[in-house]
Amino acid sequence: MIDEPLVLGIETSCDETGVAIVRGTTLLSDVVASSVSEHERFGGVVPEVASRAHLEAMSATVDRALSDAGVSLSDLDALAVTSGPGLVGALLVGVSAAEGLALAADRPLYGVNHLAAHVAVGRLVDGDLPAPAIALLVSGGHTSLLRVDDVTADITPLGVTLDDAAGEAFDKVARLLGLPFPGGPHIDRIAEEGDPHAIDFPRGLSSSRDDVAHRNDFSFSGLKTAVVRWIDASRREGRDIPVADVAASFQEAVVDVLTRKAVRACREEGIDTLILGGGVAANSRLRALVMERADGLDVRIPPARLCTDNGAMVAALGSALVAQGRPASSPGLGADSSLPVDSVQMFGSS
Ligand code: KG4
Ligand code: ZN
Repeated sequence: MIDEPLVLGIETSCDETGVAIVRGTTLLSDVVASSVSEHERFGGVVPEVASRAHLEAMSATVDRALSDAGVSLSDLDALAVTSGPGLVGALLVGVSAAEGLALAADRPLYGVNHLAAHVAVGRLVDGDLPAPAIALLVSGGHTSLLRVDDVTADITPLGVTLDDAAGEAFDKVARLLGLPFPGGPHIDRIAEEGDPHAIDFPRGLSSSRDDVAHRNDFSFSGLKTAVVRWIDASRREGRDIPVADVAASFQEAVVDVLTRKAVRACREEGIDTLILGGGVAANSRLRALVMERADGLDVRIPPARLCTDNGAMVAALGSALVAQGRPASSPGLGADSSLPVDSVQMFGSS
């Protein structure tokens, strides 16, 4: 077992080509090349465009991560790469690159779960994660409440969104309001000037009946429909749309449910650590409200730039796997676009 493994991590599950280097729990370099501007006019990520952008960016991004960290390939103890879930073509670009580099350096390769990596990135902020912990994972593609007994091997889903992911809801509502893609950061910014109580939007899966059948689950599609209806009605009545108030009230409805359910899960499971991860964890109102409500809990929220997709999260999980003596993947790792959150690693076929 290696105490402070030096690991290079590669992330390409969506539209960010991320490469980073971690030693133990210390981030040495973190380079992200984003193709987001190429997707903007489509209002969402176009898979083929993303794969091609990863291919174009990969080699320079790896070189930059190595040189920023002042290390070379042969110094590494291992490499890690996101092998799922995500866009399959995009994932395969990262996996192929990682396999080539691992072969060239003659080092083990760990295929890791993107969602577990969003949780593991917290290691780089406050050191190794306390266990057990509850993790609220909120990204563009996923929204889950997890019980994390060991981020390298034992993650149990407690609840999940039944429809849209939280980030997806932010992006769709932003689009309705005429804001650019991805909409989350724009809603966050504009909401600062709005009144979060101006419009009473619905809190999904929060009735007493839902508290029995879907206690830890989420739903955001009803909220999105309510925003559509509210905007349509205002237009019909010839009123101007108060964009800041709609953004603030929508955001409040999302973060109210997320924080309430996450804090309640901690209390009910008797767990005093709450970890936030994923792009929506960059949201300023979510961060403020969770701190207000999580009295007595140890809340771990990475800085905003480590919440959105990056290579650091992959290297952070990779270094934890090496430190725990977990087995590496076999050659022919491949990718699984719908890898479930409880599969922290992928091992490959041959
Ligand atoms: O984790 P991430 O970078 O990619 C996925 O794995 O999906 O998350 C991207 C999502 C997008 O939906 C984006 O709008 C949202 O995170 N996001 C935010 C903020 N920053 C990013 N949502 C709300 N407030 C933010 N500040
Ligand atoms: Zn992500």
